[in-house]
Amino acid sequence: MVKKIGILTSGGDAPGMNATVIGAIKTGISLNKDMYVVYDGYKGLINNNFKKVDKNFIEDKMNVGGTAIKTARLPEFKEESVRQKAVDALKKEGIEALIVIGGDGSYMGAKKLTEMGINCVGLPGTIDNDIASSDFTIGFDTALNTVVNAIDNIRDTMTSHNRCGIIEIMGNRCPDLTIFAGLATNAEEVFTCDHPLTDKEALYKRMNKALEEGKESFIILVAEKLLDVKELEKDINANTNREARATVLGHIQRGGKPTAMERVNSFRMGAYAVELLDQGIGGVCVGIHENKLVYTDIYDALKLERNKHMDFYKLHDLVK
Ligand code: ADP
Ligand code: F6P
Repeated sequence: MVKKIGILTSGGDAPGMNATVIGAIKTGISLNKDMYVVYDGYKGLINNNFKKVDKNFIEDKMNVGGTAIKTARLPEFKEESVRQKAVDALKKEGIEALIVIGGDGSYMGAKKLTEMGINCVGLPGTIDNDIASSDFTIGFDTALNTVVNAIDNIRDTMTSHNRCGIIEIMGNRCPDLTIFAGLATNAEEVFTCDHPLTDKEALYKRMNKALEEGKESFIILVAEKLLDVKELEKDINANTNREARATVLGHIQRGGKPTAMERVNSFRMGAYAVELLDQGIGGVCVGIHENKLVYTDIYDALKLERNKHMDFYKLHDLVK
């Protein structure tokens, strides 16, 4: 039976990661395991950056965004020789199993480590909500609330000037934050990879009509990596009767205090990961599906198609 379990955070940080670490550590210690944190993601494995922790470790960080055990990206981890160094370091320390909190890239690393003899469980830590094996990822709910608050603030100032606010929202290649925020803020337009801006002239017409009808502001949400929001700002200023201002939210949406549900679900997932490792299960990732904890083989999980939430675009037509 596994005795020593490590835990690390990898890739982009996300609010709720600390609650996940706390959930794993408290559960592990209650099951009589020795719990270790690995600082700096996969980098910490090859740099021997391990620390044995007690049950109180970072328990005051439940309400803090980011990750207290740090994170990093290590592209070389795709190379087997680099992963072998990590396996050797873990074995030297006697750590037999690992919890990896991160996105799909981190999941690949976790699966490959499992194939090299270290049982790993992946947890979906990313604000992007781009892990299809879980209804929601750790960080998504908090980031969504941050994005919605930012849009509300921008709406206030745009309304005061009768302006158009263009807001670029992070999410890598997954537009969930953009489309969910569109619904939550009555945004006038939402453009994503699944619902792109294909006809600028039609947009200008809709904007001028909205102005004539007395709409005091006009909010356009744009998922990152879709178009240049500064260019769109220029085009709108040149072709419509409304002044536009573009804002790129950027990393502001990745930090901040995790919401209550974020903390609860993150803690649950951390605890469940330890239970799986205790049963000798590895090479899988944990998710929450219909409010139940579930686990899926990592390769199967990575093959699942993303939910495009096309029904949200229909609903959005009603609110805008
Ligand atoms: P995320 O986990 O958020 O998707 P990345 O794609 O940056 O973020 O991946 C995080 C880390 O996972 C990478 O820096 C690398 O160390 C590791 N990783 C990514 N892809 C692979 C892979 N194919 N094999 C092994 N490790 C990988
Ligand atoms: O995956 C989380 C995320 O914040 C994406 O939304 C974004 O595209 C990317 O990470 C930004 O990465 P970095 O922190 O390296 O700029």
